[in-house]
Amino acid sequence: MSLPTANLDPAFRITRASHVVLTVRDLAASRRFYSEVIGLVLTAEDGGTLYFRGVEEACHHSLVLRQGGEMSCARIGMRMFTDGDLEKAKAFFETQGCPAAWVDVPHQGRTLHVTDPVGTPLEFCATMPVMPRMITSFTHQKGGGALRLDHYQILTPDVRKACEFYMAAGFRLSEYIAPAGTFDLRGVFLQRKGNPHDIVFFNGAGPRLHHFAYLAPEVHHLLHACDVAGALGYGSGVERGPGRHGPGHAMFVYFRDPDGHRVELFNTHYQVMDIENEPVAWDPADHNVSFPWGLPARQAWYEEATPFAGVAIRDPHVKPNPPTLEKYLSRPKT
Ligand SMILES: [Fe+2]
Repeated sequence: MSLPTANLDPAFRITRASHVVLTVRDLAASRRFYSEVIGLVLTAEDGGTLYFRGVEEACHHSLVLRQGGEMSCARIGMRMFTDGDLEKAKAFFETQGCPAAWVDVPHQGRTLHVTDPVGTPLEFCATMPVMPRMITSFTHQKGGGALRLDHYQILTPDVRKACEFYMAAGFRLSEYIAPAGTFDLRGVFLQRKGNPHDIVFFNGAGPRLHHFAYLAPEVHHLLHACDVAGALGYGSGVERGPGRHGPGHAMFVYFRDPDGHRVELFNTHYQVMDIENEPVAWDPADHNVSFPWGLPARQAWYEEATPFAGVAIRDPHVKPNPPTLEKYLSRPKT
């Protein structure tokens, strides 16, 4: 077994992770959290739906929050470069056995709905209404100052299948996790835009959305977001970090929003574009994968995630055995 082959010349151009659509129970609480703690800009409010964008984003939205009864993720969004790419992608998805359908979505151009081979509901579009970038409006910036949506992490029992599909669609593998000397993939970091990830798949019960991530301007914005979270009563939702990732090398902090959706603020990732760059391999037995320094994440960080609405969850063949905080604290003392 080897790594899946990269398709360096796909017939269509996916450009980046674009937007995520979540169901929340209390729009007012979510509005406060994402505005004040994460630092997103509210673009529009349509009845029971809020549309947010990052401080530097000129697109209409990168986070859509819909009022609903159960916390779930409706879809994760990707951008195509042009509407012509959408047409070509539809044909590709159908040859891969993934039904694709045109839909009308508010505040987006032509939009294509697809479910990937591991059950992740996807939404592709090439255009949205253009909004002012708020990057120089310093007096309006709050909390973590989230600049732009960067990536998603999905739990799935089928990491290899996901990796093969996305690489056939033109994604490139920047880093992966597999037991040393094997290609038994437990985690894959896939990218289109030239940094380590647009979408990440990890072995686990799924498909479920583990987190979505926004880029923060500076490391101190991660700390300030934590301070604001604490001041507003969201301190217990600071779930992991601030800390340093092994794969991707980013500084990070993870929050649980008022419904339990997990959002990451991070920065200091790196650029990966040149075709001679080989994917970076990580052994799951290496603690640097999970915590180069400090304490490991609590068990909930590994196991809890947002379900996709109406999508059945399957258990993985290989049960994850992460280095949790609980294990660390109960280890034999020497
Ligand atoms: Fe992440």
